[in-house]
Amino acid sequence: MKKHIAIFASGSGSNAQKLMEHFKRDPQAEVVLVLTNNPDAYVLQRADNFEIPSHITDRNEFYHTNRIIDLLKNLDIDLIVLAGFLWLIPENLINEYPGRIINIHPAVLPKFGGKGMYGDFVHKAVMAANEPEGGITIHYVDANYDEGEFIYQAKYKIDKGDNLEMIKFKGQQLEHLHYPRVVETIIKKIKK
Ligand code: GAR
Repeated sequence: MKKHIAIFASGSGSNAQKLMEHFKRDPQAEVVLVLTNNPDAYVLQRADNFEIPSHITDRNEFYHTNRIIDLLKNLDIDLIVLAGFLWLIPENLINEYPGRIINIHPAVLPKFGGKGMYGDFVHKAVMAANEPEGGITIHYVDANYDEGEFIYQAKYKIDKGDNLEMIKFKGQQLEHLHYPRVVETIIKKIKK
């Protein structure tokens, strides 16, 4: 039986897109749910394009009920993959899926992480610090923002004159290249 992946995303979902493309071809695992906190997120359209069911949650449901855990259990989810999901994962979910929730962050953690550090805020902070390099981190998720055990990191060079768009592009290239591959390695190790 194929292993089941749930993607959580809040925005455009370009990483979700790469994951859905990758696992469409995978004999061992498939994406069976896209969950978002944002009814306007473009990731919902992307899920539709792949005919993958989606669920829009709200703060009350996500933080104060067991409905998300019930949904994940009903779909027999093995791994939760955060792809630009901006809400902190509540402890009941972390306890239910220990070592089974992973995230991608657009910087070389532990630098440029923590609350409020997402998307362009991260890239702008990297630029403001005059860093010679940017990068990405794929890590397990715990109860704090961007603090779980690292799984994989990659770096890119920041050239003189690189603007926000350029830095964002370089980071995104790395994310799209590595996230599906790393998720595949992890899910293959999970025993169903
Ligand atoms: C990605 O760059 C991801 O690393 C970042 O949000 C972006 C989502 O882009 N996540 C964080 O900043 C988490 N702290 P996408 O919607 O195009 O995949």
